[in-house]
This record gives sequence, structure tokens and C-alpha cells, in this order.
Amino acid sequence: MNSRELLKTIHSRRSVRVYKTGKVTDEQLERILEAARWAPSGANSQPWEFIVTRDKKKMKKVREIYLNEWKQRKLEDPVHYKGLKKDYVGDVSVLVLICGDPRTMQVYLTTRQPADREKLFQASVANAVEHMMLMAASERLGTVWVSVREEVEAELRMLFGVPQPLRLLWVVPIGPARLWPRPRRRRELSAFVHWECYDPNKLRKSKEIRAWPK
Ligand SMILES: Cc1cc2nc3c(=O)[nH]c(=O)nc-3n(C[C@H](O)[C@H](O)[C@H](O)COP(=O)(O)O)c2cc1C
Repeated sequence: MNSRELLKTIHSRRSVRVYKTGKVTDEQLERILEAARWAPSGANSQPWEFIVTRDKKKMKKVREIYLNEWKQRKLEDPVHYKGLKKDYVGDVSVLVLICGDPRTMQVYLTTRQPADREKLFQASVANAVEHMMLMAASERLGTVWVSVREEVEAELRMLFGVPQPLRLLWVVPIGPARLWPRPRRRRELSAFVHWECYDPNKLRKSKEIRAWPK
């Protein structure tokens, strides 16, 4: 694959939230996991652990857990809570629970501040997730990064037997997309690239920093 083809794959990746029936083959799955294996990580600590399931009963339970959270949040704040239901975790070819082993933070020997260690840890696991997603996109398979909030974490941990001290960070469904979404808007390069030193004219006003930029 040349650089243009790689960029094409990067451009084609989307957060897919509607899946259709259809299988991620074992070979595809292996390539996706292999891509994660080669992600860069702080001190090559490789803090990731993946729990991979094809079990539809477990997925249904995952959907229930997320739905209960959604209902609870909606009940608490029917007007302002804008979270979307995450039904897509409930019926997909493969679900991957992304965990990280925080003990790897001990190997960042030259990094003393806890917040700096946390940065290395989370960034390292995130790299592995992005590698997975790009490989899946290259197979024209959908993925989406699903946050694991505190409200759902305990139940998910129980369901998948995630031991202490592992952290359960995200959930990633993988499967053929029913709907391959249109690209979400990206900031222009000129808006966030600063040549030689930071250009203060580009510092965004607080009100310009928003979710789902138009
Ligand atoms: C750390 C992180 C957490 C995310 N959490 C969620 C989530 O909980 N649910 C969801 O539907 N999308 C989630 N997303 C996906 C983003 O909404 C998505 O990447 C962004 O809107 C850009 O769209 P695109 O991925 O299709 O380009 C998350 C993405 C990241 C990087």
C-alpha cells in the first residue's frame, strides 16, 4: 500500500453506529488485532489487553447495561441530557473490550508525575485502538469508539470477568456497516497547524470550542 492508499483508508474510516448482519472472518479479526499489536506505546510498555467476544447473549447484555444507563441519565435530566442510545453494541459480529494494565505506568521510569504517566498509559492504549480501526476500515468494516463511563463499568467488568487492577477503558464493535456515515467536519489544517511558533491569532475563542462542530 502506498501513502496515497493509506491516506484513502484514513479518510474512509467512520464511526459506524448502525451495523448489518454479516461476519468479520477470523482472518480479518486476526489482521485487525495484529495491527493493534504493532501500535507504538510509551517505553514499549504495550499496556493493552483485549477481550474479544462473538457471543450474542453477552452483547445483548451489554446493550441492556448501556440502555439502563441512558434511561437513568434521561430520568435525572430529561431536558438537558443529550446522550444517544448505544444499541449498536448489542448485535454486531465482534465486540472488543479494550482494557489497559495500569501497572505498566511503573515502567515509565523517567516520568515522575502521575498525570504524565496517565497520559502515556492512555495514549498508548488509544494508539492500539486507532490501529485496529484503520485496519478494519481497510477491510471496509465499521467500528466505533464507545466510552465506558463509571455508570456502566462495574457491570461490564462483572460480565466479562475483568480483574483488578486492569482498567476497562472502551468498547469497540466491529462489523459490516448498514450505514457508512458521511464524513464529520474536520478543522482545516491551517486552523491548527502553527509553523515555527504558536500563532496566537489561531487561538480559538472559548465559544468556538464545541462538540459536533458544524
Ligand atoms: C476517546 C473517544 C471516545 C468516543 N466515545 C464515543 C461514544 O461513547 N459513543 C459514540 O457513538 N462515539 C464515540 N466516539 C466517536 C466520536 O464521536 C467520533 O470519532 C467523532 O464524532 C468523529 O466522527 P468519525 O469517527 O466518524 O470521523 C468516541 C471517540 C473517541 C476518540
